[in-house]
Amino acid sequence: MDIRIVILAAGRGVRMRSRQAKVLHRAGGLAMIEHVVRAARTLTPADRVTVVTGHQADDVEALFRLQGVRFARQRKQQGTAHALACCRAQAARSRGLLMVLYGDTPLLSAATLEALRDAHMESRAAATLIATALADPSGYGRVVADDDGYVVEIVEDKDCTPAQREIRVINSGIYCFRADLLWRHLKQVRPNRVTGEYYLTDMARILRRCGRSVRALNIEDPSELLGVNTRVELAEADRILRMRKARELMLAGVTIERPETVSIDADVSCGQDTVIEPFTRLLGRTEVGENCRIGAGAIVESSALGDGAVVAPYTVVAGSRLDPGASVGPFARLRMGAHVGAEARVGNFVELKNTHLGAGAKSQHLAYLGDSRIGDKTNIGAGTITCNYDGVSKHETWIGEGVFIGSNATLVAPLEIADGAYVGAGSVITDAVPSGALALGRARQVVKPGWVKKKRAAKRPKK
Ligand code: UD1
Ligand code: CA
Repeated sequence: MDIRIVILAAGRGVRMRSRQAKVLHRAGGLAMIEHVVRAARTLTPADRVTVVTGHQADDVEALFRLQGVRFARQRKQQGTAHALACCRAQAARSRGLLMVLYGDTPLLSAATLEALRDAHMESRAAATLIATALADPSGYGRVVADDDGYVVEIVEDKDCTPAQREIRVINSGIYCFRADLLWRHLKQVRPNRVTGEYYLTDMARILRRCGRSVRALNIEDPSELLGVNTRVELAEADRILRMRKARELMLAGVTIERPETVSIDADVSCGQDTVIEPFTRLLGRTEVGENCRIGAGAIVESSALGDGAVVAPYTVVAGSRLDPGASVGPFARLRMGAHVGAEARVGNFVELKNTHLGAGAKSQHLAYLGDSRIGDKTNIGAGTITCNYDGVSKHETWIGEGVFIGSNATLVAPLEIADGAYVGAGSVITDAVPSGALALGRARQVVKPGWVKKKRAAKRPKK
């Protein structure tokens, strides 16, 4: 069966009160339109999916570059029927089914789209739409049906009579049309008397008038059909997507404590027996291995964590990698290509930027390690700073294996400290340290015996 899917995403979304187009707003870690396109692509190949763009079209289209999805532009937003008409040139010759989805319904599942396709093919109607009964239907178009359950018309909230406003069955904005009938009759849609827009929902009345049948597929669980018009609904969509993702991971063997408090993006993967503590955020394309622990309040973005890695509470990891058994935090920060080797330890208030810390190495307290290569089993003392920036350019620090850097060392890059060397505490190191050497870069201590007593005597007021 030939299925073409058109997704309407050209509107600005005035009710969002945003400078950004509505469908670009994110829920569950993806732009709303990305969720809808993903659901569509499970039903039909990418080149059978057309996204109608308009407001900030370049930004919307950029999300799907290289995916093979097609686009049609709606230059002026004159309503949902007008938006659909903008793909006439692309889609008018198709003979099978044409599904229309809206870009602001990010919770829609592929299973529901399949149910719509099956219901439509079975009933042989001219069109089938997904409907549901809501306790509070305000804002949605109402589905007016006859005694036999055929759809008579869809009336927009603004156009409802008081009696129609009482109808609780709403139009979800998800339709399946016989393509030939849709294109034949779409021209008959007239502008709405109040708004001047061309409403796709008028197709129900038009098809019926032409003696065609329109059916509604009633869905029990309305949570999938949420249309996001305001930021309040955006937050609700986000909440539901987050819970769905947490549930999927828990069923796959991940422990999530207080799942309602965590935010896990759609593309995050997580291995068996990993434990995720409350209030964590796992973002972007993060990959978490098996048996890991992500501590409370930690944020891990676009990073990879090997099996058994630990991210202790309140740690921020971005664009970085932890090898198996590595442990970072609490209160650590890893960014821009930090790479912590197997079984290595990074403790509190340590920052790593573009730095490789070798296997079994340690930096347990209060350090900044930037643009550095640090060998296996090296120990970095508390308060160590790599001075990687001279005000103009960045420089690298190379520290070998089994090196001991004493507390509060200042390592001025570019600098090389060879295997097995020692750096005394409090040193400022500016020159290379050869293998096995001790480097000290500080003033020698001076002790003045009896100094305190003499000083006090000198200060005593004369009687
Ligand atoms: C629409 C339906 C309503 C339904 C509700 C479900 C119409 C007339 N009404 O109302 O019956 O209950 O969805 O969520 O269809 N768009 C364009 N070009 C335009 C106008 C809109 O591409 O000129 C796109 C928007 O970007 C959006 C979608 O169509 O993704 C729906 O538009 P929106 O204005 O949100 O329609 P609703 O008022 O919610
Ligand atoms: Ca809407």
